[in-house]
Amino acid sequence: MISIGILSTAEINRQSLLIPVKKRSDCQVRAVASRSSQRAREYAKLHDIPIAYGSYQGLLDDPKIDVIYISTPNALHDFWTEKALQAGKHVLCEKPAFTVEGNAESLKKLALTRNLLLMEAMHYRYHPALKDFFGLLDQKFLGDIEFVKTSLSYYFPTRENDIRLNAALKGGVFMHLGCYCLDAITGIVGKPLFFQDLNVVKKTNGVDLKSEGCLVTSDGKTRAEFLCDYSDNIFESEIEVKGERGFMRLRSGLNPTNFVLENPHDTWILETDLSTQPCLSKGDGFSTYDFQLDYFIESLKQGNHTPKINAQASELLAEGSDLLALKI
Ligand SMILES: NC(=O)c1ccc[n+]([C@@H]2O[C@H](COP(=O)([O-])OP(=O)(O)OC[C@H]3O[C@@H](n4cnc5c(N)ncnc54)[C@H](OP(=O)(O)O)[C@@H]3O)[C@@H](O)[C@H]2O)c1
Repeated sequence: MISIGILSTAEINRQSLLIPVKKRSDCQVRAVASRSSQRAREYAKLHDIPIAYGSYQGLLDDPKIDVIYISTPNALHDFWTEKALQAGKHVLCEKPAFTVEGNAESLKKLALTRNLLLMEAMHYRYHPALKDFFGLLDQKFLGDIEFVKTSLSYYFPTRENDIRLNAALKGGVFMHLGCYCLDAITGIVGKPLFFQDLNVVKKTNGVDLKSEGCLVTSDGKTRAEFLCDYSDNIFESEIEVKGERGFMRLRSGLNPTNFVLENPHDTWILETDLSTQPCLSKGDGFSTYDFQLDYFIESLKQGNHTPKINAQASELLAEGSDLLALKI
């Protein structure tokens, strides 16, 4: 039985970890940690978690915990990932896992040196339709790729003191949603990309609410554009790829299952101008978070500790957020 400890009492825990864990018999949530002992106790009681720690370090010091799931605000991800690895724990860290230049590579090295699994929770990638989609592109189904476009729009953050609207906690739409766009773009292009353009379209209170950018390969043959948006109160997530042979557009590509927590269903739709219509796998009622946890746990069981992070995307995210900070 693999024992998981949750580092923070974040809202996302339920959807991303607690529900998926309940569907399995090979792992358990053994403990939760909060900055407040009372919050930890209340959260543990509410979610039937055996142990509550009133400090994050207390959780890391528990020798019976194998895996730490980090769901703090973005600004604390790098720090607690390093601490957890130093404590000898495997780590599943919420996106964006690395927000500071150089940290993706250095923490990857630390994980490898310690033979620990380090994975960023880029959940959309683990859905079988997305695996197929990326697989087709890897096999040059569209030939050489000329253009990629990703967009992710979500509703305006309305929770009180929402971390998304807090600059000091590395909030803002580029950090929160742009990380998915960059992950998909870099994964699809598979070559170094450079910012050609990066702009804040709307902002508030020191954070960006709508940002867009354009990236290009050094030979100029492949371009990528992205748009991330909290301001228009719509939900949209799309990956579009144009190659020599045609195009594929995956609607809901960055979020291929819906938000009905207990009974998720597929929301992606593939559009293409190809004469051979590619067939993508269904999720069969499992969420991206189920698939993500499955990948993580099966990797551990097989002793596969190859880091599952996208260092190029993390570097672009760190660089881009520094550039955007000058414009906010
Ligand atoms: N994978 C996904 O689909 C997805 C979706 C949403 C969010 N996320 C990511 O998950 C993470 C958490 O997001 P969320 O919306 O669930 O966050 P949230 O509900 O605001 O919770 C964040 C938690 O972090 C802890 N924390 C530590 N220092 C804090 C500080 N200075 N201010 C506020 N909270 C602090 C708090 O727990 P304690 O007080 O108990 O310590 C708090 O409950 C973010 O990194 C976000 O990008 C991922």
